[in-house]
Amino acid sequence: MTGQILCRLQDLDTTGAKEIVLERDGARVPVFVVQYGPHVLGYMNSCPHARLPLNWREDAFLDMSGTYLFCANHGAHFDVATGKCIRGPCKGQSLTPFPVSVDGDTIVAAEI
Ligand code: FES
Repeated sequence: MTGQILCRLQDLDTTGAKEIVLERDGARVPVFVVQYGPHVLGYMNSCPHARLPLNWREDAFLDMSGTYLFCANHGAHFDVATGKCIRGPCKGQSLTPFPVSVDGDTIVAAEI
């Protein structure tokens, strides 16, 4: 089954990630996708600490080293592969996965 097109792979070239706001049943659903080696992963753009969007700048989801996902609000760091917070005020909690797949050079949302 083919889901909604989110963006193209090349859209991740600059920051390694891309924010997309979907509309589902009239509600805004903020998500982001992030490059992880040869894979692309998706998460809801909602920090488990205070349920705020992680990024303050457009498509900026990684820390300065490019190693961890980073919440700009209070500095939580998350493992890219699992979404688990490894440092910060929500240590041990996790981002909510948003399943995506890659179809050619296109990143596609799984149906939710
Ligand atoms: S809202 Fe993300 S660390 Fe506080």
